[in-house]
Amino acid sequence: MDKQDILAWLREADPQRLNQLWLDADRIRRESVGEAVHLRGLIEISNYCCRQCAYCGIHVLNTDVPRYRMTREEIIESARMAAAFGYGTVVMQAGEDAGITAEWMAEIVRTIRYDIGLAVTLSLGERTEEEFRLWHEAGANRYLIRFETSDATLYRRIHPSLPGTVSDRFAILKKLQSLGYETGSGVMVGIPGQSYDTLADDLLWFVTLGLDMIGIGPWIPHPDTALARKPDQFPTAGTEQVPNTAEMLFKVLALARVLCPAANIPSTTAIATIAGKEGRGNGLMRGANIVMPNVTPLCYRQMYAIYPGKASSLETPEETNRIICEHIRSLGRTIGIGPGDSPSFRQRQTAIS
Ligand code: 5AD
Repeated sequence: MDKQDILAWLREADPQRLNQLWLDADRIRRESVGEAVHLRGLIEISNYCCRQCAYCGIHVLNTDVPRYRMTREEIIESARMAAAFGYGTVVMQAGEDAGITAEWMAEIVRTIRYDIGLAVTLSLGERTEEEFRLWHEAGANRYLIRFETSDATLYRRIHPSLPGTVSDRFAILKKLQSLGYETGSGVMVGIPGQSYDTLADDLLWFVTLGLDMIGIGPWIPHPDTALARKPDQFPTAGTEQVPNTAEMLFKVLALARVLCPAANIPSTTAIATIAGKEGRGNGLMRGANIVMPNVTPLCYRQMYAIYPGKASSLETPEETNRIICEHIRSLGRTIGIGPGDSPSFRQRQTAIS
């Protein structure tokens, strides 16, 4: 599939043709990663953030969000709960929080990986190479950091660099891969200013980067962000603007599966948020093979408001677990057992050894 083919699919409006894309993505998913849906227990460990991203509700200037950082004990307890639910992995996510110190985090990683026995995924933003190395040595298996958009001008506009630095997520991804992490990235779909052309490039980047995990979600306007408050500063791409609709999201998800057959691709919470009850299941039937049930204690969930109306934000971890497991079974799919490494990562490891 070349760029012209991708562009044609992104512009496709005929429901029957689109149905063919969903079926192709579903078949490729079944053939390359199987019927199992792997569950990752998501722990949102801190909503402190030093960045000023124009899309994200927990950006540093938003004084309306109460800030929290979970204690070591709370995080470990959430990880134990994830293990009790049978999840093979925990994902620890946070804003870019300097209060998450390297050694404190490394100790938590060690406990979860070696005492509790779960695979560990980190999603803690742009940190130093020394930190990435320390956490990998402590047992972290995977790291997630989305490049958000491959349009460099748009990226700079929505994701200002910190003073004296340049935010280069492609360089970070290469670094993570060279350290031995199973590496994930992805984009938002429908960011004001995102054109069909750059979205097609984003999809090609997934292939070029050789990603093991691909996370895709719709851009959801948050009222306390620059993108929602100052739309005149963020011009749209006019007739080339990508809409942030569920249908467009499913197109990108299905194309990601066709282009990267062996990657792990989640049906994300953001999909469930815009596409309603059926959203998560539709994601799983159009290319996705992963779900990330939230195990963050209820008292913190609503404070991790990167976008409004987040699905599952009023449920306890037990309720989320029950709803997601029932949903997966109702689709005729099975629940994955074990860490659920991506086949692409396993193939690379085998090639190296
Ligand atoms: N809408 C959709 N996704 C968002 N993210 C952050 N803010 C929003 C928003 N308003 C996504 C970004 C980030 C991930 C953790 O959440 O892609 O990388």
